[in-house]
Amino acid sequence: MPAKPNVLLVGCGKMGGALLRRWQELLLYKDICIIEPSPISVLAAKQVADFASIPEGFKPGVIVMAVKPQVLPDMASQYKSYADAGTVILSIAAGKPVSFFEKELGKKAAVIRSMPNTPAAIGAGITVAYANKNVTATQKTQATQLLGAVGDVLWVEDEKLLNPVTALSGSGPAYVFLLIEAMAEAGRKLGLSKDMAEKLARQTVIGSAALAKDSSSLSPKKLRENVTSPGGTTAAALAVLMAKPGMQEIFDEALKAASTRAEELSV
Ligand SMILES: NC(=O)c1ccc[n+]([C@@H]2O[C@H](COP(=O)([O-])OP(=O)(O)OC[C@H]3O[C@@H](n4cnc5c(N)ncnc54)[C@H](OP(=O)(O)O)[C@@H]3O)[C@@H](O)[C@H]2O)c1
Repeated sequence: MPAKPNVLLVGCGKMGGALLRRWQELLLYKDICIIEPSPISVLAAKQVADFASIPEGFKPGVIVMAVKPQVLPDMASQYKSYADAGTVILSIAAGKPVSFFEKELGKKAAVIRSMPNTPAAIGAGITVAYANKNVTATQKTQATQLLGAVGDVLWVEDEKLLNPVTALSGSGPAYVFLLIEAMAEAGRKLGLSKDMAEKLARQTVIGSAALAKDSSSLSPKKLRENVTSPGGTTAAALAVLMAKPGMQEIFDEALKAASTRAEELSV
């Protein structure tokens, strides 16, 4: 296991804050400095307002870029001296390609581009990461530990795959929330109160997700078949949802639209 790195966290909003809390709990860094202009509530962390205020002598092994993508063009190049010194840049900024960082920080910069998702806020996220050829095995392990603090981590060898990843797991939580909304609304139309329909829909998704997690050896198809008796109520609903065009075709279209949009945004 590599030594714990010094971490420079750039941006401590929703996602940076979620990462920082878990790093502190799990003691994943040797020392840390946080660049964040707004006040933060996390205790016992060194916070500075901007790049110029980084304590002299602080040498980060990993710089985690957790600012909004639109902020990056104005500030990324400030970090070139660290990249030149071999510090790995671990970006969680949606859609910012490795080529952007290589342009700002130089071709020799070690850059990891990653795509976490919102459930990271409660430690139940999934992140997919891509490393350029300058990233060492040790840096990859350190990045896996830092990203793994808020959920699972998968690596891809082809950066282009981050577009479909964004369409599936990045944007995916919104599809699940829509599912809750749609099920609740359908229940309400059948006569349930709004409150009750929403509670039933929400808990059904929570419980089913927990069951899917608990039964990870079973495919989603098998899980579905296990709760579908021939000729029963579930089968009646699934006949509607799985008619053609049905849910599969809608998801095919939706993820294609999201992936295309991710591609457009990442140039
Ligand atoms: N939230 C998610 O679920 C999610 C999922 C996947 C990827 N991401 C990615 O994670 C990144 C952060 O998203 P977020 O939702 O955490 O955004 P956020 O809550 O707005 O956090 C960004 C933070 O960066 C600060 N900041 C702005 N300029 C800065 C600078 N020059 N140096 C240091 N800090 C600066 C902002 O401060 P001010 O508010 O004072 O400007 C803000 O607190 C984004 O690139 C996003 O694409 C987020």
